[in-house]
Amino acid sequence: MNQHTLSMRLERVAAHIPADAHLADIGSDHAYLPVALMRRGVIAAAVAGEVALTPFLSAKRTVRDNSLEQRITVRQASGLAAIEPSDGITAISICGMGGETIRDILDNGKAHLSGRERLILQPNGGEQPLRQWLMENDYCILYEELLRENRFDYEIIVAERTGPVTYTGEELYFGPLQMQARNPEFLHKWQRMLRQKQKNLNNIARAQQAVPEAKVQDIAQQVRWITELLA
Ligand SMILES: C[S@@+](CC[C@H](N)C(=O)[O-])C[C@H]1O[C@@H](n2cnc3c(N)ncnc32)[C@H](O)[C@@H]1O
Repeated sequence: MNQHTLSMRLERVAAHIPADAHLADIGSDHAYLPVALMRRGVIAAAVAGEVALTPFLSAKRTVRDNSLEQRITVRQASGLAAIEPSDGITAISICGMGGETIRDILDNGKAHLSGRERLILQPNGGEQPLRQWLMENDYCILYEELLRENRFDYEIIVAERTGPVTYTGEELYFGPLQMQARNPEFLHKWQRMLRQKQKNLNNIARAQQAVPEAKVQDIAQQVRWITELLA
């Protein structure tokens, strides 16, 4: 993967970035996503935010090597602190991190959100708490995608702040749009998850481990939901 050829995962993220966006890519690492989008003429401007020094320097190098310093600003900052009001950001991508980390970045950075940005999020697990945050903060989920690459399942969640929205517990767990679409990748993922959760429950029962009852009940609830989904 590089600034010319994105992974399939980032390629699918790229497909949800609106044309002419002023993009903030948070946790940008090498800045491959904003640089590829700028080279393709899709976006108008970008901020690449990185908290850690080594990836921050990599991002700077990718931007410099592509002579895009006038269009892409690289900032070393934690989360949405990379965004300044004068950037006029219209889309924010946060990809390749756990859903809880993405949720915390959004929650800690609320002061940097205008509420008009499209969020393009690609969590690696932890989708449920991330969707919960979106619901609690009036973000409607507009698109959801699931893809499998190198034996990992990746989800993409696109959301915009439209006003109060309510999702059921199952919708927060499976994804409201994916639950409706029920495409083959989605069903395969949950068949795998069901086997994994049942194994967890069996291991807990067999080992008679001191696992908190609430945790066991939580896994049992998940098994019930997945079984109903696949029925
Ligand atoms: C696994 S990489 C993903 C890179 C790229 N977004 C992608 O999807 O390929 C995660 C990056 O997020 C950065 N990161 C983690 N927490 C962050 C935060 N709070 N603010 C900014 N960057 C963060 C890490 O330093 C790392 O470079």
